[in-house]
Order: sequence, then C-alpha cells, then structure tokens
Amino acid sequence: MQELVQAYYGQELQGTADLKTSACCDADAVPAWLKPLLAKVHPEVSSRYYGCGLVCPPLLEGCRILDLGSGSGRDVYLLAQLVGASGEVVGVDMTPEQLAVARQYQAFHAEQFGTANVRFLEGTIECLEQLDLDPGSFDVIVSNCVLNLSTDKPAVLRGVQRLLKPGGEFYFSDVYADRRLPEAVRRHPVLYGECLGGALYWNDFLRLARAAGFADPRLVSDRPLAITEPALASLVGEARFFSATYRLFNIAALEDACEDHGQAVIYRGTIPEYPTLLPFDKHHSIEAGRVFPVCGNTYRMLLESRFAPHVEAIGSFDHHYGLFEGCGSSIPFDAANGSEATGGAPASCC
Ligand SMILES: C[S@@+](CC[C@H](N)C(=O)[O-])C[C@H]1O[C@@H](n2cnc3c(N)ncnc32)[C@H](O)[C@@H]1O
Repeated sequence: MQELVQAYYGQELQGTADLKTSACCDADAVPAWLKPLLAKVHPEVSSRYYGCGLVCPPLLEGCRILDLGSGSGRDVYLLAQLVGASGEVVGVDMTPEQLAVARQYQAFHAEQFGTANVRFLEGTIECLEQLDLDPGSFDVIVSNCVLNLSTDKPAVLRGVQRLLKPGGEFYFSDVYADRRLPEAVRRHPVLYGECLGGALYWNDFLRLARAAGFADPRLVSDRPLAITEPALASLVGEARFFSATYRLFNIAALEDACEDHGQAVIYRGTIPEYPTLLPFDKHHSIEAGRVFPVCGNTYRMLLESRFAPHVEAIGSFDHHYGLFEGCGSSIPFDAANGSEATGGAPASCC
C-alpha cells in the first residue's frame, strides 16, 4: 500500500483538480486572519495541497512543530509564519516528488517571511524514531489527511506521543468512517489513494489514541464527505465518511472519562485571534471573562499546556462529584445523527 500511495501522490496526481472525491480537499472556510498568510505561500505549493482540514491551532509563536505527511509543504509554510523566527517547522514525507516541490520553494519562502525556519525530512511516519528528532522536543505535531494512508496507525500514534513535549498536542485532520470497512473497500487502490479505503472507524481511532497514551481525544470540527463518482460510491455502499479534526494532548494525568471536581476556568480574552470566544474544541467554546465549568481533563488541558497564561483557574482536584454531565459515547459527527453543530454549549464534554 505504501508504494501505491507514493505512486498516487508522486506521479498520478499533478494537483488538487485531479482528485476524484472530496475526501482530500479542504472545504473548511479559511478564517480571515489566516488568508493573508496563505496568500504568501507559493502557488505551485498550494496547487498540490491535498489536505482535508485546517491544522492551525492558536498560540504557535516560538513553537517547534512537526508536520506528518507534509506533502508539497502548504501547511508547513503556513505554520512557519505563525511560529516566527524563534520557532521551527519540520515536515516529514515519504514521497520524493512531494518533497522536491516543498524544498524547491524553501528559499522563496525564507525570503518572503524574513526567516529560514523550515526543514523537510524524507521518511515514513511509522518510523519516526529513525529520523534525527529528539524525544519530547515538539510543542505541536500536525498532520493533514495522512493517518488514513498509514499501514501501521498504532506505530504513528506511539511515535507522536514519544516526540511531544509534556503538555504538547497532536492537532490533526483526517478521514473517518462510520463503520469498519470491508476488505474490498480497504484494498481498492483508488479509494485507498483518495484517503477513504484506509479510513478508521471513528471509535477504533478513539481506542488507538487511548492505547497510545492520549486518554481524552477531543473533536474540534467535522464535516461529511461526498463520493461523487458513481462507481466508487456503489463500491462503498452504505458506509459514510467524515473529515474531522482532533486534538490530542500529551498530559499523563488525563483520565479516560470526564470527571467532575467542581472546577471552572475564566478565559482572559488574551489570544489575539479570539478576543471574545475561545473555540477550544467542538463542545467547549469559552466566552471571555465568564466563569466556565469544566471537567478535570479540560482543566488540565487548559492549565498544563501553552494555554495556561490565558486562563484563570478556579478549584482544585481535592474533591470529586462524580462523572461530568454530558459525557457521551455515540457517534460524534453532526451529519451522522441529524443534529446541528453545537458551537458554544458550555459544560459538556467529549
Ligand atoms: C493526502 S496527501 C496530504 C499532503 C499534505 N498533508 C497536504 O495537506 O497537502 C498525503 C501525503 O502523505 C504522504 N504519506 C502517506 N503515507 C505516508 C507515510 N506512511 N509516511 C510518510 N508520508 C506519507 C504522501 O506522500 C502524501 O504526500
């Protein structure tokens, strides 16, 4: 499958227009604050963008970021502007043709941004330990539509956990299915190359993430994917696919459920892009200045990460009041259960 993926992204696809489904084509609206940064990315790099989401969380200045399956480098060059001269972005990809495009424009972007803070490494994301990267050395690891293409997803998640600093996060977009896919779909070359065949059943992904040490994966956003080509749609049958962005914090003390310790936070409104409302994850949009009740895990994610200076803590872990209300276990994606995006509902988890 790795050879198939290399041939698909290295030779078959020449640009976004060649894709046969909407799986690897990001329909997320780019926020206004990112548009000027995106405009500085070289058009050839952007024309070979095959991502399925937006992997630019806030507070990246000075951060060390690793991009798994960085392709032609669009996200790397976007993130390079956000980390600035005191940060660094490292891209890893296994396809020489993709790396060649990314590297071809390194000098162009260094001149545009006034700093050379980007590196591209050739390698597979299942074997990150073979690259010259120190354990516990990255603040944030991102990935855009790549985990589904991996033939050993547990190894990728273990490698991510090893490379993240304590309090760091894996913030990534990928494709998920509403069920385990049959062999014929999993091994179909076009469906695999288009990021559908290798998609994990969403609940299996949550299990893998927990097994790799990420006890409480947080869904940030999701959207349903369309398979417009009739032949491919009939092969896939009733299975439905979603693009989703998750954030996985590397905090050892996180629990596998949201527990109520009577805690709350107050967001100070100090993150420049989010002066009034911090969209932390799909179920936590935190209004500035307001007392916002949280479970123990959310408390730790906010106070043991780079978000800490922007949040006032209320309470401690001295008392326990049972399970935090609102913890669910059904499929989390909107279009799958007929509900609308909740946006800002406070005090509910998972
Ligand atoms: C769908 S494209 C996404 C590229 C890039 N993230 C973007 O948003 O444009 C998938 C990329 O992941 C790379 N890739 C797939 N499997 C990989 C693996 N196991 N190790 C390293 N790179 C991989 C491919 O070479 C390709 O460049």
